[in-house]
Amino acid sequence: MAESAQPAETGIAVLLAGGRPGQQVLVRGWVRTRRDSKDVTFIELNDGSCLENLQVVLEPGRPGWEARDDVTTGASLVVSGPLVESPAAGQPVELRPESLEVTGGSEDDFPLQKKRHGFEYLRTIAHLRVRSNTFGALARVRNSLFTQVHGFFQERGFLFLPAPIITASDAEGAGEMFRVTTLDWGRGGEEPDYSRDFFGQKAGLTVSGQLEAEIFAQAFQKVYTFGPTFRAENSNTSRHAAEFWMIEPEMAFAGLEDNLRLAEDFIKAVIGGVLEQCPGDMGFFDARIEKGLLEKLTHVLESPFETITYTEAVRLLEESGEKFEFPAAWGHDLQSEHERYLAEKKLRRPVFVTDYPKDIKAFYMRMNPDGKTVAAMDLLVPGVGEIIGGSQREERLENLRRRMDSMDISPEEYWWYLDLRRYGSTPHSGFGVGFERLLMYITGLGNIRDVIPFPRTPGNIGF
Ligand code: 4AD
Ligand code: MG
Repeated sequence: MAESAQPAETGIAVLLAGGRPGQQVLVRGWVRTRRDSKDVTFIELNDGSCLENLQVVLEPGRPGWEARDDVTTGASLVVSGPLVESPAAGQPVELRPESLEVTGGSEDDFPLQKKRHGFEYLRTIAHLRVRSNTFGALARVRNSLFTQVHGFFQERGFLFLPAPIITASDAEGAGEMFRVTTLDWGRGGEEPDYSRDFFGQKAGLTVSGQLEAEIFAQAFQKVYTFGPTFRAENSNTSRHAAEFWMIEPEMAFAGLEDNLRLAEDFIKAVIGGVLEQCPGDMGFFDARIEKGLLEKLTHVLESPFETITYTEAVRLLEESGEKFEFPAAWGHDLQSEHERYLAEKKLRRPVFVTDYPKDIKAFYMRMNPDGKTVAAMDLLVPGVGEIIGGSQREERLENLRRRMDSMDISPEEYWWYLDLRRYGSTPHSGFGVGFERLLMYITGLGNIRDVIPFPRTPGNIGF
């Protein structure tokens, strides 16, 4: 076997976990910091594989080894040489390079110098913040959560349906669709003639893949969508993004109770999976972002979620003695201050709120026998508020017709949705999880702009 001149690249995570002194290694990465003392230079090198850096020790005094002024914070390097046992605390090994190549130097004004930057500033440098500790940890946890989501559903026999992104139906009926058009319209503000548009009718970006998931559930029973979702919601809050990811399972032959069980199992399984897969990054969030985060999440895994009806929730709010900006009243949607009171102060754990008044929920939710409420479920969690919204769906053709009629939803537009109730209808249920809201809960990061790499919010698209 021919001997190669260089060993293959090894990730820093692997070297710190099991690298042996004497082992010849090659690493590539970016300089986080450089520290010079009288006769050695310490470089903290990060390659994105983990939170920790590999310490690279340069000894300028060594023959043939000049002082490397080009090794500055932010520079990219390829380094090779032997690992040696590290005298420094907290790291088993360090690297004494025999060769060091600066592949790209970094100019003096590189913004991520030693001092810690505020999140707001970091948002203005979305192209560089990926090299910060917080964002690095977030990116790895986000990646892990993706695999947890697919793993959870695949293990349980759910079929993955990537729902279309361009669609003609506003599933939520909330008028928050971004328009997709090739028409040149503007003047006058009147509705354009959509028959001349690209699709020959009005189209937009999806606000939810639920209706397509319902179609699939009526053939495959258990399905889920997981993809980008768009809402032209002009809410400039820390929990709303114009582009986010939603996970939407849908089950045929299933009622609200099945929905609650699936949602609770899902939340617990993915949190457990991330804790197992990303102990270092989760430890960082616990230490630097939300004190007690790991204890909170462990507690979530171990205790059952609370379930209360909307009517009970309103009673708890009325009896709370709290001064809310908007007092709670039956028939009105819960405000985020209400959601947070219930989950954070009153019940101190994730809580399902079920059976909302029909007038504040979407047309597809199943009417309860009382004729006033629908079989809805929201999951509220401390610190974030609503992370899941779902329901049992109205599977009875006549009920659905009546409901659409009373909400001015055109049966011609939804003829295919009605068809599902005409041919082999089943009681069925599903829900939508906001991926970024779930990430906020798991990491303790308080703003949705910091859990999505390139956030889109009202008035802000970045680049
Ligand atoms: O409660 P929502 O609007 O429910 C639906 O869209 C249903 N079609 C879901 C279903 O039953 N299949 O949205 C579901 C979740 C919310 O609970 C929230 O976590 C998240 O999606 N979400 C947002 N996340 C970030 N930014 C926004 N603007 C969001 N709007 C909803
Ligand atoms: Mg909702």
